[in-house]
Amino acid sequence: MGAIALVPAAGSGSRMASDTPKQYLDLLGKPLIWHTLNALHQVAALERIFIVISPEDEWWDGYDWDGFGRLVVMRCGGDSRAESVLNGLQALSLFTPSDAWVLVHDAARPCVDPAQVDGMIATLADDPVGGILAVPVADTLKREGNDARITETAPRAGLWQAQTPQMFRLAMLAGALETGMGPDITDEASALEKQGAQPQLLMGSPWNLKVTYPHDLQLASLILAARGE
Ligand code: C5P
Repeated sequence: MGAIALVPAAGSGSRMASDTPKQYLDLLGKPLIWHTLNALHQVAALERIFIVISPEDEWWDGYDWDGFGRLVVMRCGGDSRAESVLNGLQALSLFTPSDAWVLVHDAARPCVDPAQVDGMIATLADDPVGGILAVPVADTLKREGNDARITETAPRAGLWQAQTPQMFRLAMLAGALETGMGPDITDEASALEKQGAQPQLLMGSPWNLKVTYPHDLQLASLILAARGE
């Protein structure tokens, strides 16, 4: 079987200072998540796109998603991103082979490049662990002590910023999340790392930003508009 995508979209987006969860904020006339799903829809190697929304989600049904044929919605979001992903994986495991490749991609990353996702699936197809898109850290990193005083400059050599998609085998990822669940698990790779695995780093793109703060929405609209969306 080919690869499938799992899109956690059950967050409240508290850092966006809006009553509307960020995945439904307007981005070039459409909800932000529309652009994310549109990008994944262009990835030929993805057999299906599963999206995890909150059981209390009041927005999803207000839009017409008919254009996205390979989309399946699951109302099983949890209290944290990791819980939403695990709940989605557990639901998937009822009807999906345990060795299926799953690409977890944040709903909040609408500018992901479909060609890069295609490349990732091809590159990792025979990998024993899986891997993630990421970019090397460019800035100098400072550690804060008290009162915004610098105590240390952290060496940035070898440091990468994790992005999504993050691609792992269904049962391996579900098992790692089940046993490792905790506040330190902020992405899928960290759950695998906790078990001693070493996921592969694949060069991502600075355009693949995660919309977190209001200014990110402006950046995302500039990126998508430059692509003609
Ligand atoms: O909040 P953050 O930007 O880290 O969220 C990353 C992704 O995880 C978003 O797409 C968000 O909707 C999703 N998420 C989730 N369930 C949560 C929290 C976040 O699916 N409880």
